[in-house]
Amino acid sequence: MIDAGAMDRETLAALLRWYAAMGVDCALEDAPVDRFARSAQKKAQAEPEPAQADPPAPPPAPRALRQPPPPAPKPAAALSHETAAASAREQAASAQTLDELREKLASFDGCALKNSATQLVFADGAPDAKIMIVGEGPGADEDRIGKPFVGRAGQLLDKMLAAIGLDRSKVYIANVVPWRPPGNRTPTPQELALCLPFVRRQIELVAPDYLVLLGASAAQTLLNEKEGIMRLRGHWRDYRCGDRTIRALPMLHPAYLLRAPLKKAQAWRDLRALKHALDRAGAA
Ligand code: URA
Repeated sequence: MIDAGAMDRETLAALLRWYAAMGVDCALEDAPVDRFARSAQKKAQAEPEPAQADPPAPPPAPRALRQPPPPAPKPAAALSHETAAASAREQAASAQTLDELREKLASFDGCALKNSATQLVFADGAPDAKIMIVGEGPGADEDRIGKPFVGRAGQLLDKMLAAIGLDRSKVYIANVVPWRPPGNRTPTPQELALCLPFVRRQIELVAPDYLVLLGASAAQTLLNEKEGIMRLRGHWRDYRCGDRTIRALPMLHPAYLLRAPLKKAQAWRDLRALKHALDRAGAA
């Protein structure tokens, strides 16, 4: 284990820079955990006891007298995921307003992302908007400020919206996970599944006419798709929401566009498709 107390300032700063470069940018526990020691201990416990010089075991009882084997225990992690998923469904369904949904999410402890996040990042924009934008999850800036898309990707999103005559007063913005994944990693399928009932209810309560799904996590999760975002983007899909069908357009995520500016041409094509649909419906 690293003994930080024995390091000088320079070495400590270099170590922190290295952690940050590796995506480790928050502490999850107060005390360090030596996982190497833990797994060595587990392995030692799992190893069979050395043979004892005991008398030989009696022969097995006749079949009919033997007890039936106890049912195999369910793995603890699977059980707690199931319990958390059931609770997420129940909590989300019981929310009758967006404020109630925000409260239910804030008190939901089933998703571990909450433990490392600073705060819940629920939504921004107009709750009665006809257009709802769904991203992946908060980044460091969003986690600090408590609103979605306020960092560099958010600034690009604002420019993209402005290019087709929209701004945050005309759209509602949320994410498929409302807590920042540590180090900005992609949310896991389990985290996405746990948060899904909440974002689906959020969409139901906002009841937009159009959904814009930014990036693979939002598009695949909400459309129940395995196809990559490069294939999904730019193709209108139907999103079933209670007894309504909402037109959904997957698009490239602005954070990706910051890394791959040449792809902005495709994003611009998709924005024009959105603008065209809005104009035709007289919605913008
Ligand atoms: N990226 C997202 O997907 N959502 C945010 O809120 C910010 C960045």
